[in-house]
Amino acid sequence: MSEPLILGIETSCDETGVGLVRGNTLLADAVASSVDSHVRYGGVVPEVAARAHLEAMVPTLHRALELAGVRLSDVDALAVTAGPGLAGALLVGTAAAKSYALALDRPLYGVNHLAAHVAVDTLEHGDLPRPLVALLVSGGHTSLLLVDDIASDVRTLGATVDDAAGEAFDKVARLLGLPYPGGPVIDRVAVAGNPAAVAFPRGMTGPRDAAYDFSFSGLKTAVARWVERAGEPVSVADVAASFQEAVADVLLRKALRACRDHGVGDLLIGGGVAANSRLRELAAQRSAAAGVRLRVPRPGLCTDNGAMVAALGARVMAAGAKSSALDFATDPGLPVERVTV
Ligand code: KG4
Ligand code: ZN
Repeated sequence: MSEPLILGIETSCDETGVGLVRGNTLLADAVASSVDSHVRYGGVVPEVAARAHLEAMVPTLHRALELAGVRLSDVDALAVTAGPGLAGALLVGTAAAKSYALALDRPLYGVNHLAAHVAVDTLEHGDLPRPLVALLVSGGHTSLLLVDDIASDVRTLGATVDDAAGEAFDKVARLLGLPYPGGPVIDRVAVAGNPAAVAFPRGMTGPRDAAYDFSFSGLKTAVARWVERAGEPVSVADVAASFQEAVADVLLRKALRACRDHGVGDLLIGGGVAANSRLRELAAQRSAAAGVRLRVPRPGLCTDNGAMVAALGARVMAAGAKSSALDFATDPGLPVERVTV
């Protein structure tokens, strides 16, 4: 018998994502982004995002079914992001998922967006090794996780005490006069820059600092000071490359330290910032040097999508977890340890 067909719905931020997955096999990944509507505000406007999800939900779902060549009635179970994320945006996806689950009479799993950023890697590299250290770097979160079972056992080793890594990229891009979202733009601009041009600070890497926590606000301030410095010609490419280097350096130092301290031989990097080309390159070098096996999903699966939600749904269902009650509540602040609701 083939594995169940899972439909995943993601609406936690500005991407309406619908994915279809069977086991570790990706069948469809349809994403509609409202990012263009937010550019002029320099960040995601929650009400605009929620409205865009409402408009994109049904067409995106139909596009996913078409891409996979399946019918809605073929779906065996649904998974949807229950949190964390923007309150209004989460409500659109969960309302849709609950309606489809009710109409189709299929089980629904309300799942954690952050855990889904980890689970998505099964679609590219197969079953997750146990345990593994996961470096989760997105627009809203930056955490180091010890994952024994992505369906049920996720522990936080550390997290950012201020800005998330993606947030730092977005804020620094703004300082440099670059458009939102800043991550992909800095990634592109930095290619022409010298990463050693400016020795930006490496936050929380002192001997007395928490080993697995992060801080990026000092780095952001240092970039702001550099930009404001009168009389000095600022090469945007050099500042972007040096900033990116500082972020990648700190993230990987701490992630590999966590692997070493916990005797874990596998590191996974997930979330939107995992799409960053320098982070991927440096991660490959340093993991190899440390004898750690590295897993990073391809860039298109790192940023928000519905396939990651379906992938986590598949893991949770395979683990025999109970499906969610249809009246479950969304939770904008859902902690990463709560994989399902
Ligand atoms: O995971 P994600 O798509 O959404 C959240 O759950 O937050 O992450 C979005 C974040 C944004 O801050 C964006 O600037 C960043 O990921 N990002 C990148 C790159 N692509 C997206 N940051 C650095 N380099 C990239 N190539
Ligand atoms: Zn995300």
